[in-house]
Amino acid sequence: MTDKLFEIIKQVQNHAQQNYVPIVRPQTLQKLLEVCKERGVERVLEIGTATGYSGLNLLTIPNLSLTTIEKEEGRFMQAKENFALAEVESRVEQICGDAGQVLQKLADDGRKVDLVFLDGPKGQYKKYLQNIVKLLKKSGIIFADNILLGGLLNDESRVTHKNRTMVRNMKEFLSVICDETCFESKIYQIEDGFAICEVKNF
Ligand SMILES: C[S@@+](CC[C@H](N)C(=O)[O-])C[C@H]1O[C@@H](n2cnc3c(N)ncnc32)[C@H](O)[C@@H]1O
Repeated sequence: MTDKLFEIIKQVQNHAQQNYVPIVRPQTLQKLLEVCKERGVERVLEIGTATGYSGLNLLTIPNLSLTTIEKEEGRFMQAKENFALAEVESRVEQICGDAGQVLQKLADDGRKVDLVFLDGPKGQYKKYLQNIVKLLKKSGIIFADNILLGGLLNDESRVTHKNRTMVRNMKEFLSVICDETCFESKIYQIEDGFAICEVKNF
């Protein structure tokens, strides 16, 4: 892999830290990359591009190609610039739009991927699941980040009127993916928590 890509990853990470752009945490990223390598993942769909940090890291894996969705135009444009600077734009399909609508379109088009990295709006994971499952190839993987919701999931006392629906939706998402007849899931309480979920029958 080129030094250029690693140099841009460092720059994007520094920029994110200085500008409060939320990016994937280190151990979570390490596990995501490990899963992709172990399972020979070639096509990833990411929900939540931000400025491209996780995407650029995924693209350090040779032969991997990425479709990534971001609804904020400013971040979409910044990510575009970052993918170009890192000279990986030929392996990236960037889509600017609301993930719910984009997922519906991709599923209707019969698109297939090996892994979905779910890192967008935390209250929508369960709603997205139906289309995500359609988009995954047989034995495809869902890697869902931030399932602990900054600690809210395990601390009822911090749940307020404002975040109650998000917490309830996340609990429902986790209960669906922990249904062993349809999924084989493992929950990791590391950093902000993530779930790795293999689709068996859905
Ligand atoms: C945690 S950040 C993604 C971080 C990125 N994956 C990384 O590690 O570099 C979540 C992103 O999802 C985007 N987002 C939030 N709601 C969205 C939606 N409905 N559709 C698409 N993107 C959305 C946000 O604008 C934000 O940039």
